[in-house]
Amino acid sequence: MTPKVSRFLRDAAPATPCLVVDVDRVAENYGRLKAAMPLARIYYAVKANPAAPILSRLVDLQSQFDAASLEEVRMCLAAGARPEAISFGNTVKKESAIQAAYEAGVRMFAFDSEPELRKLARSAPGAKVYCRILVENVGAEWPLSRKFGCEAEMAKELMVLARDLGLDPYGISFHVGSQQTRTAAYEAAIAKVAMIFTDLKEAGINLRMANLGGGYPVRYRSEVPEIDDFGAAIMGAMVEHFGNALPEILVEPGRFIVGDAGVLSSEVVLVSSKGKDDPVRWVYLDIGRFGGLAETEGEAIKYRFRTPHDGLAEGPVTIAGPTCDSTDTLYEKSNYRLPLALQSGDRVELLSTGAYVTTYASQGFNGFAPLAEHYI
Ligand SMILES: Cc1ncc(COP(=O)(O)O)c(C=O)c1O
Repeated sequence: MTPKVSRFLRDAAPATPCLVVDVDRVAENYGRLKAAMPLARIYYAVKANPAAPILSRLVDLQSQFDAASLEEVRMCLAAGARPEAISFGNTVKKESAIQAAYEAGVRMFAFDSEPELRKLARSAPGAKVYCRILVENVGAEWPLSRKFGCEAEMAKELMVLARDLGLDPYGISFHVGSQQTRTAAYEAAIAKVAMIFTDLKEAGINLRMANLGGGYPVRYRSEVPEIDDFGAAIMGAMVEHFGNALPEILVEPGRFIVGDAGVLSSEVVLVSSKGKDDPVRWVYLDIGRFGGLAETEGEAIKYRFRTPHDGLAEGPVTIAGPTCDSTDTLYEKSNYRLPLALQSGDRVELLSTGAYVTTYASQGFNGFAPLAEHYI
């Protein structure tokens, strides 16, 4: 938690649950990534947190943007981004959205299938297009599975088709899965991209761009490699596979830019147990899966907690949200322990909750309002 967030929580004591984001920390993270990968152009993945103060701070820093929808394109434009600084990175788009983004000046689009490529040819003529390929997501705590991307062989055929359809076959992208904890995941994916570049060169197509996606991790309960380790591994792999003919390098970080800039402040609603001799206490918070903590699904993302009793004796807990749905249980199997002194009315903080929280909050499930947000 940054000193600014901690001061704000102490002095303003905002109503819970709420997310407090230190926008200076967002700028610092942008700078750290830039320093770790000076040759890469940063396209912030807006989906991680699309709040206007974040977008406008990133515009000031000359960031570019990866938008997942027409609405996100519009948010970037409203924050002052130039349309040329926006990549429409979702491989699944309505044709009307492609057309509207193109009319707004967006000229870079992702795809991973022939029907999508044909939509782009019709509604974004001449645009730069890049094909997303499937890569291993091993090591990612929030994997993206097979939903997006196509096999390398198909990508090659589609890039040839892109040229034939009058589009600009610009490059290849991948995503190694979010909260990726292994630098090797990028190395393997880069090798795959380089092979596609070589094969397409023989077919007369000179790709110019490698989009290395997102995935750069944030520290939750476990340590993760430093961003400099990712930078070194990635640049090492780029040089190994492309030599001195390096393509333009794009990265699309989301979580890394905003994750540790945010702290969620919550109130303990109830601490109870299911039987007299049951050592496990149930701790019910006023925030849960439907309040925005969607990434606790499968206990995948394990947030760290701060309580007013830290340092005192602890015991095992199951941590749950406030709604009537039993899937609104955050952690039952991950061996969480919290202070024995914890009681109803205590305020607890969930650290590094700046990414993938606010926009996941439901619209009033059980009557609870969507999560309040403070950008400071
Ligand atoms: C296309 C694309 N780019 C970038 C990101 C951001 O990933 P991360 O937040 O892991 O950096 C995502 C996340 O889902 C994505 O789908």
